[in-house]
Amino acid sequence: MSATIGLFYGSSTCYTEMAAEKIRDQLDALLGAGSVALHNVIDTPLSAMADYRYLIAGIPTWDYGELQEDWETRWDEFDTLQLSHCRAAVFGLGDQIGYPEWFQDALGYLWTRLQQSGATLAGEWPNSGYTFTGSQALTADQRAFVGLALDDENQFEQSDDKIAAWCRQLIAEFGLAG
Ligand SMILES: Cc1cc2nc3c(=O)[nH]c(=O)nc-3n(C[C@H](O)[C@H](O)[C@H](O)COP(=O)(O)O)c2cc1C
Repeated sequence: MSATIGLFYGSSTCYTEMAAEKIRDQLDALLGAGSVALHNVIDTPLSAMADYRYLIAGIPTWDYGELQEDWETRWDEFDTLQLSHCRAAVFGLGDQIGYPEWFQDALGYLWTRLQQSGATLAGEWPNSGYTFTGSQALTADQRAFVGLALDDENQFEQSDDKIAAWCRQLIAEFGLAG
């Protein structure tokens, strides 16, 4: 069986990779084994995103509001990407205590690039329960993050429950419920 959902991520110190594996495991449990294919952007071109109708993309924010380095290397590939047949959702890793002015900025930049490529975005996440002073990852009305915001530095114990709830939300928003 070919996978239904392509999950693309970049990760410098493995936290985003661990979250990606947990999201894959959750969705596989709900939709059937092999439903999600993981792709680390360090060795997968972004053109592979176009092979999927459903996309998930994960990015941590680094260095005061910057992209994770492997995403940054591939960023220009978005210029020629056509994803108008795709439903997409994003998740990010960040540190709200260490970097409160730039919390999850890269999550917002990734969402914008996917939208510019024509994808229809899903998976907004409430911003209550976080403490920060600035973020480029908020929705226009500032009430939510554009995707799932995880903080394994300060709220590691919450991450599994957030991932489980977000995966159920995605299945409903993607219309994949059985
Ligand atoms: C030097 C450094 C800079 C960081 N800058 C930010 C930042 O600007 N905003 C943010 O939300 N998190 C920031 N973080 C936190 C990382 O996003 C967090 O550690 C994340 O879990 C790393 O994910 P990864 O292991 O997948 O690369 C920074 C961490 C380090 C060590």
